[in-house]
Amino acid sequence: MCAAGEDHSLPKEISPWEALRTHDGAWTLMHRGLGQACHSLSGAWLQARERYALACRLDRGVWGSRVRLLDIGTGLGLNLAAALWALDRPGTGQAFLDAHSFEIAPEVLRLAAALEDWPAEIERYHQPLRAAMLAAAQRGVAHFQQAGVASIWFHVGDARVRLPECEAAAGEGAPRAFDAVFLDPFSPQVQGDLWSEEFLQQVAARMATPGILSTYSASFRVRSRLVALGLEVGRGPRVGTKSSGTLAAKGLKLEPLEPRTQRRLARHRPRCA
Ligand SMILES: C[S@@+](CC[C@H](N)C(=O)[O-])C[C@H]1O[C@@H](n2cnc3c(N)ncnc32)[C@H](O)[C@@H]1O
Repeated sequence: MCAAGEDHSLPKEISPWEALRTHDGAWTLMHRGLGQACHSLSGAWLQARERYALACRLDRGVWGSRVRLLDIGTGLGLNLAAALWALDRPGTGQAFLDAHSFEIAPEVLRLAAALEDWPAEIERYHQPLRAAMLAAAQRGVAHFQQAGVASIWFHVGDARVRLPECEAAAGEGAPRAFDAVFLDPFSPQVQGDLWSEEFLQQVAARMATPGILSTYSASFRVRSRLVALGLEVGRGPRVGTKSSGTLAAKGLKLEPLEPRTQRRLARHRPRCA
């Protein structure tokens, strides 16, 4: 267990992960080998709320009484906690959250569940998820359920494999079409798998109409792949000191990309259909 002011690093020979406190008080985990943290150090909770939950309009009451969410890269579960937070805001109609979350590294779930001393607002929405995150780390799959509030399946494994696998498996609450997608893997430079044409195609095929995807990446390659898949692609919100990120949607109007990027995209023929 970790508490504020203590040394959260695990012995390097045991774990590549190190817990770091970000500027808004939320924890993140840094992967030493990849040299990358799960969140911007300027604020993990800020990022989870603004880049994912709010960018996907979970607070706007637009998804009806049930929001179906695909969460790629569970990590510390902050994006899921932010989804619960957004749906709990006044005026949202308090839609039910029906989510499937995928994480390749059980250790991340285990460490995240053991972190203590979260700011009160995060604690309120994150604490209920921890037992299921721990169970998923141990058993490979776990279900969190809160009557009238949420059903969240935690799946452990490579999302490229687990997503189609769990659709086929009975008893795991097979994912259907998703209203919202949080695409939050490590960056394309260090972990390209989840940015590949094949995986983005898997994701796009599972988006409902209307449906929306948010990611922090503003990479031209990622954007052009999303365009090639027939998605509307637009600018995500700026979050803290970070750039706009990307939104992709079916059947929704988005804030347009910068004119220069639009011209560049128009010059590039789609490479996948
Ligand atoms: C940027 S962090 C995600 C942070 C997280 N969304 C949160 O709310 O705390 C990226 C996560 O993606 C996971 N990941 C990387 N490759 C993956 C894969 N192929 N399938 C599933 N998860 C993967 C990493 O282990 C890491 O925990």
